[in-house]
Amino acid sequence: MKFRTICPTEDKYVEVIDQRKLPHEFVVVKLETYKDAEIAIKEMTVRGAPLIGATAAYGIYLAVREMIENELDPSFIDQAFSDLRASRPTAVNLFWALDKMLDALDNSSDFLRTSWEMAAQIVEEDIETCRMIGVHGLPLIETISVRKKGEVVNILTHCNAGMLGCIEWGTITSPIYQAIEKGIKVHVWVDETRPRNQGSNLTCYELTRHEVPHTLIVDNAGGHLMQHGFVDLVIVGTDRTTRLGDVANKIGTYLKALAAKDNEIPFYVALPSTTIDWTIKNGLKEIPIEERNQDEVRYMIGKNTAGNMDSVLICPETTNASNYGFDVTPAHLITKLITERGICDASEEGLLSLFPGK
Ligand code: MRU
Repeated sequence: MKFRTICPTEDKYVEVIDQRKLPHEFVVVKLETYKDAEIAIKEMTVRGAPLIGATAAYGIYLAVREMIENELDPSFIDQAFSDLRASRPTAVNLFWALDKMLDALDNSSDFLRTSWEMAAQIVEEDIETCRMIGVHGLPLIETISVRKKGEVVNILTHCNAGMLGCIEWGTITSPIYQAIEKGIKVHVWVDETRPRNQGSNLTCYELTRHEVPHTLIVDNAGGHLMQHGFVDLVIVGTDRTTRLGDVANKIGTYLKALAAKDNEIPFYVALPSTTIDWTIKNGLKEIPIEERNQDEVRYMIGKNTAGNMDSVLICPETTNASNYGFDVTPAHLITKLITERGICDASEEGLLSLFPGK
């Protein structure tokens, strides 16, 4: 891996890639205040459940630093926690990371050092977690490859659950990268993932960098490809997984699961355990689904023929749009979950077999 999605700087701030500009421009942005981190999450300069959590963790470090340097009241830190908590609603890693930071600060007499070290630990743990998801997911791809006598394994994915949503490796891309390293032939169908096009912009960018053969498809093509035997396996990410195994992921994931079920194609979800919300059971009723600005649907952003980033209206000026960011795939549509501890059923028993005591 050549880069990380979030990096500490020498002067102890933090840098992130502005993912809104990919794949056309690689721009690095420095976060110097907790507000910078909050805005980066809200405006999706950074996105993807694990990276949102890591950015929020560094946001708390930045708040501690601002408080000390500007001799502010400690209530400044409380404000940072509450602003960061409100930055995006669905990915539970955000709340998990903030709780971890709060716990660490509650038990510390050196806030600056503790918050810096805990944010770094969250980052390092995610890298190892994603690597292990690859270790456990690789045999799935290997088995299909053997069954197909070494022919290409076709994997369909939705949104971006690659390294750009994490720190390194990514969740769904980790088994894919490890399969490629082993010489297994893999091809990825990439859903464009309207409205923000994380598939075409980010997943295609990553797969290109890693020289993974892939083809971009419109969001509605997956069902057709599955009906005609062009998909061997679906792997998607998740922003929040309930203790019964329901999964919230980018809008449109549910429809892929339905199509996979109808065509008897295995549908796997790759997840770091940091996306499990052990406090809830019913995904449909209990997972808050983000609603974003309608202009994300009404406009398309891309590079124009003059080579500049541009935004174009794709509906009449007066048309309103709805913009739900996520949907919930019920556990019964999921073949298995791939976690850092192994593969399990999408059920309470399955999850508890890997995470006893929860
Ligand atoms: O709105 P986004 O881009 O943050 O949504 C991201 C996803 O839906 C990913 O699949 C999920 O966060 C998993 S990232 C490993």
